[in-house]
Formats: sequence, structure tokens, C-alpha cells
Amino acid sequence: MASENIITSIDIGTSKIRTLVWSFASEKSRDFHVLWVGVSNSYAIRKGNILDMEEFKSNLDSSLEEAEKMSGEQVTGVNLSFNSSSFDVVTSKGIIAVSGDEISSEDIDRVLEMARNGVDLPNREILKVVPEYFIVDLEEGVKNPIWMSARKLEVIANIFSMNKNILGNMKKAVADVGIEVYDIYPNLLASAEGVLTKRQKELWVVCIDIGASTTGITVYEEGVLKFSSVIPIGWDSVTNDIALWARTSIDVAENLKINHSALWLEEGVDKEVEIPLNEIIQSEEGSITNLYLSQIVSARYEEILYFISAELKKAWRDGMLPEGAILVGWAVKQQWLVEVAKKILRLPVFIGLPVEKEALSETSISDPVFAWVVGNLILWNRYSYGGSPLNINFGWILESIKKVFKKILP
Ligand SMILES: Nc1ncnc2c1ncn2[C@@H]1O[C@H](COP(=O)(O)OP(=O)(O)OP(=O)(O)O)[C@@H](O)[C@H]1O
Ligand SMILES: [Mg+2]
Repeated sequence: MASENIITSIDIGTSKIRTLVWSFASEKSRDFHVLWVGVSNSYAIRKGNILDMEEFKSNLDSSLEEAEKMSGEQVTGVNLSFNSSSFDVVTSKGIIAVSGDEISSEDIDRVLEMARNGVDLPNREILKVVPEYFIVDLEEGVKNPIWMSARKLEVIANIFSMNKNILGNMKKAVADVGIEVYDIYPNLLASAEGVLTKRQKELWVVCIDIGASTTGITVYEEGVLKFSSVIPIGWDSVTNDIALWARTSIDVAENLKINHSALWLEEGVDKEVEIPLNEIIQSEEGSITNLYLSQIVSARYEEILYFISAELKKAWRDGMLPEGAILVGWAVKQQWLVEVAKKILRLPVFIGLPVEKEALSETSISDPVFAWVVGNLILWNRYSYGGSPLNINFGWILESIKKVFKKILP
């Protein structure tokens, strides 16, 4: 670490690389300051895979250079976050005899290690072992067994893993730009931790992270992760469909998707009105009607939502989550997506904002695209900081993010 109190988190997405540099004054301090939140283009990643090593390194290098320049800190290591279609989760069980009269943190580490060793995952690297629940002697469903009197400790844990070569390439690229990887957090976990409240996690809830080429799904109940999955499809496929069917470029298609794709749901949209493509990019020819555009867009949006619904069926939670679906990611800027999602998922649907949202009102960070930021800090505290009694005060973090945003926005 460059300085003991500087942490850098990076979300490597298909469309954007988002970098956050933050500092904290001392081990137990609540005084967190976000020094830089940067967003740069990502041209060489799809579904969490590197398509072009040199291009990826150059994108990463420029986002880190910018972060160093703007934060005034040298970045030597990062906590990485990304979604990958190669993520997989299996459930495993660990059992140990408790070493003393009470369960210590070493016992918890040992039982989790046993769960980790209980799975044989050739050509895969384990990223995280997330306990679902503990069994203390014969009592099931214990969430935190520390200091409980017991003779036997068992755990049922979710083992997150990914393809070793894909991860190896990612680590190699980061090492080649002179940076160390401190820890890796699956983006779907970070986003869910960043937006779901304790209450939502107690009841059944699903967090859906809709990206450019991946969709991450995490289901929680009784405060613990019950199901997770990454679908290798995202909202870029909507852009590709528009480009294909309207016979236009990707840039025009992206513009049509973001600025013109009103669905049937919106009142007052004249379906026969033609959108001339040269109004978007001068050299383009032809036009597309609102009706045709909305047909292309809604077909693909609905299809992706049906895929999500099929995943929820696997968790036996199709249409049956009392706290509903919480959407995050850049694409949820399309407000009507909530209405389409309600119809297809048959659930209450809300846009997810980072927790403690009262501290954020009307600022750029009160934004579903930055869900992972807060989640990254929570996971860093839980895994890399050894779950020490560091008392993260999210009001502080979000306030300081807000200040940085005020500085960097025009
Ligand atoms: N206003 C908008 N309306 C609809 N879609 C949008 C809007 N703004 C961005 N998008 C879409 O959101 C997607 C990018 O989302 P995001 O930045 O969360 O993905 P990512 O993290 O880069 O990708 P991934 O997680 O899949 O690797 C793109 O498909 C983009 O076209
Ligand atoms: Mg993403």
C-alpha cells in the first residue's frame, strides 16, 4: 500500500472503468475522505473477459494516472471489482470441533477454510467464501456464532469462484501497469451490499445489477445470501439490435436507445413520428419511427427480464420476494424500465441507491451506478481488514464522495 491509509477501488466494466481513491485518518477513525471518483472509457472488456490485453492496460493506466493526478496520491494497489460470466457459486459445508469452550474467530476461520477445501474446482480460483448460516452444536440458522459456547461448529457457505485463466489475465494486466491487486470482489456482491438495507435483506429481496454485457443477480433472505448468478447478457445487446434493425452505426443506435426509446407505456408519444438519423450524426441517412424503435427496444428489454425471471425460478423465488427487486447499474436511468420490470418479474421494483441515502439527496453519487462504491468499502472492511472493529460511518463516506463530486462536476 502506498500509504497505510489510502485505499483505491476500481470497477472494471464493459463500458466504463470507475476508480475511487479514499483515505481514512487512523485505524479506528470514522473520518473517511474520498479523494477521487473517476469514470473513464473501457474498450477491451466484455462479460468480464479481456478482449485486447494492450488496449485494456492502456485504459487502466489512463484511469489510474488520472486518479493519481487528481487525488495527489500514488496508487500502488487496488481492490478490484467486476462482473464476469465465468463467476460461479457452489454451496459447501464445513465442520470442526471448537478448540476451547467458546467459538473464537480462529474457529470461524477454520470452519470456513474447511468449507473452502470441501469443493474441488479444477481450473477455477476461489474469490470469496460467504457463510450462509452456521450450525452451533445442533442449533441451525446462526448468523454470527462468535463467543457462543459450543463443542461443534458447522457452516453452510457459498463459494464464489471464477475461471483461473480469465482471472490470471486480469491480474497480469494490473501487474503490468505496476499495480498490486489487494483483493477482488464480485461486482454483484459489492452492488448488493451497497444498496440493500438490513431490513430488505432480512425479508426476501433480489438485487439486479444491469451492466453493458452482464446482469448480476443476488437474492437475500434472513440477512444472508441465498442465491446468486451472472447472466452473460446486458443492455449493449439492445444497442446492437437497434444498429442491426435500423441499419445504422453503434453510436447512433446508442443515442436512439438512450434518448428516444420511449415504450408504449409512455403517454403522449406519437408512434408514427420519424426520427431522422442525420440529426444524431450528420453523415447518417434514413430515419426510424418511434413505433419501430420501441418494438426493437421492448422486445430485447423484455427478453432480458425473462432471463432474470428464469434465474429467480431457480431460486424458487419467481414472483415471490416480499421486498421485491432492487435495480442498479447505469441502464436503470431509463425510468420506464421499472414499469417493464414490474410487469415481467411480477414483483415490486425499485431503483437502488447507495445505503444511507438521506446523506446524499440530489447529488450525482445518489446514483445506482455507484452502488458498488459503498459495497466495495463494506467488503474491504469485512475481508481485507479482517472484520476488525473499524466502525465505518457511511454518512461520512457518502458526504465526502459528495464533496469530491461537487469538485469534479462542471
Ligand atoms: N440513460 C440510459 N438509458 C439506457 N441505457 C443506458 C443509459 N445510460 C447508459 N446506459 C447503458 O448502460 C450500460 C452500461 O451500464 P454500466 O456502466 O453499469 O455497465 P458496465 O459496468 O460497464 O458493464 P458490465 O458490468 O456488464 O461489465 C450500457 O449498455 C449503456 O448503453
Ligand atoms: Mg458493471
